[in-house]
Amino acid sequence: MTTQIITIDGPSGSGKGTLAAKLAKHYQFHLLDSGALYRLLGLSLFKTDLLERLDEHDVLQQSVKIATNLDIRFISHKDATQVLLDGEDVTQIIRTEQVGEYASKVAAVPELRAALVDRQHAFAEEPGLVADGRDMATSIFPNAKVKIYLTASAESRASRRVKQLQGMGLDAKISDILANIQARDKRDMERTVAPLKPAEDAYIIDSSELSIEEVFGLMINYADQQLAK
Ligand code: DC
Repeated sequence: MTTQIITIDGPSGSGKGTLAAKLAKHYQFHLLDSGALYRLLGLSLFKTDLLERLDEHDVLQQSVKIATNLDIRFISHKDATQVLLDGEDVTQIIRTEQVGEYASKVAAVPELRAALVDRQHAFAEEPGLVADGRDMATSIFPNAKVKIYLTASAESRASRRVKQLQGMGLDAKISDILANIQARDKRDMERTVAPLKPAEDAYIIDSSELSIEEVFGLMINYADQQLAK
């Protein structure tokens, strides 16, 4: 039997992370947060002063080696996942806007994306996997039984992000966040390698006007049908 795979792709702030975690819990499947891999690699390359020099051949070679050998651990707790990089707890720092920027830079480099492919495939274990990212359906798991593309307007994603940051006690200006989101969307959609776009056979959901529970309901209905085929 092949492992059942549910992919959820879409831009940041669409609610993917929350919904992927809820789906994984519902089906008791493993969870791949592929964005976290890009964030971890971005952080690691920033710390080693390589991030800004990826256009140098030797630096890129060295960065590919780092990507292949990244020492990462995801530790599942009841309601959250702790993330360790080289044994250090980076759960919070990888979620910052700054590290999101590093990740976006890393994600635009084909050699670095290629270096993370095997690691992503390794998450596909029985009984199944929910894979959250940008190119899960179009590139990493093209044979997934369930492909979902979750999107939302840039404005609604910005206002969710501001609330989230305020909830963490951080100050945030909606205009700055919106500009960041628009710049990152543009970079993610226009890059030549694995650009952000729905797979041809993806089920597309726009969550701008929907609650998490409403989106979850749509996803479960669709996934149940597809998984039963
Ligand atoms: O989903 P996220 O915000 O954690 O992703 C961080 C960055 O990594 C974002 O710029 C998009 C990129 N990314 C990607 O290119 N491919 C993926 N499968 C996941 C994330």
